[in-house]
Amino acid sequence: MKFSDRLLSTLARARSVVAFTGAGISAESGVPTFRGNQGVWSKFKPEELANIAAFMRNPELVWQWYAHRKKIIAGIQPNPGHYALAEMERFFPSFTVITQNIDNLHRRAGSKNVFELHGNIERNYCMTCRTPYTNEYVLSGDPVPRCTCGGIIRPDVVWFGEMLPEEEWEGAENACRSAGVLFSIGTSGVVYPAASLPLEAERNGAFIIEINPEPTPLTGIADEFLQGKAGEILPDLLKNIRSANKEA
Ligand code: OAD
Repeated sequence: MKFSDRLLSTLARARSVVAFTGAGISAESGVPTFRGNQGVWSKFKPEELANIAAFMRNPELVWQWYAHRKKIIAGIQPNPGHYALAEMERFFPSFTVITQNIDNLHRRAGSKNVFELHGNIERNYCMTCRTPYTNEYVLSGDPVPRCTCGGIIRPDVVWFGEMLPEEEWEGAENACRSAGVLFSIGTSGVVYPAASLPLEAERNGAFIIEINPEPTPLTGIADEFLQGKAGEILPDLLKNIRSANKEA
């Protein structure tokens, strides 16, 4: 892809960059996105699976679904989009990934500075005493895994109606307030409060770059809309950043 001079010169000057990501960045790794015809939510009703009342009513069903998702996610790999973001960290004094994804693929690709707004499917904890448990533990025993204290273990992900983890949210908000550039990548931008972060960055003067095959409600605030797949556009952009840094 050919990038505009405005975009490249803004990136060359940028000191603080945020990459705000959603399910679309993992689509090319084989993780289904949430919305649209092929999305996870088109096959299951979220209200039956991803909320605390549903879990208490039928923990076995919800655990079956998470066990299935955990197995899928354990078997996939980060794609060139994740790797490109991980390498970009080297070129900016501050580079923060803020993700709505729970698949841990940014960390597995090598990104170090990551805020996970909706939790992480590789983690679990006891609802009574908050002891953390590995996937290996929860997938190898009872259909509804129990803590040694007798409490029920749940996946460490944010369900509908639950608060976002406070530290992750504060870190994400601070990064957005001071960002010179914010990439919004592979998100439909409709789930709040996460979707308010690009707006916050824009209000504070950040240059907004959106990467998505389709326009979204965030396209209106984007200074540049790069239409296409994250796994193709981000490696192209990284090439430009690498060569600009060689020349400098
Ligand atoms: P969505 O499924 O709502 O949106 C995925 C976006 O990715 C869409 O805009 C697609 O056009 C775009 N997309 C698809 N393939 C792409 C590709 N190869 N490259 C770039 N973009 C691509 O997913 P999110 O916006 O992440 O919350 O959804 C936000 C939240 O809704 C999720 O974190 C989840 C869900 O409810 C919780 O679980 C709390």
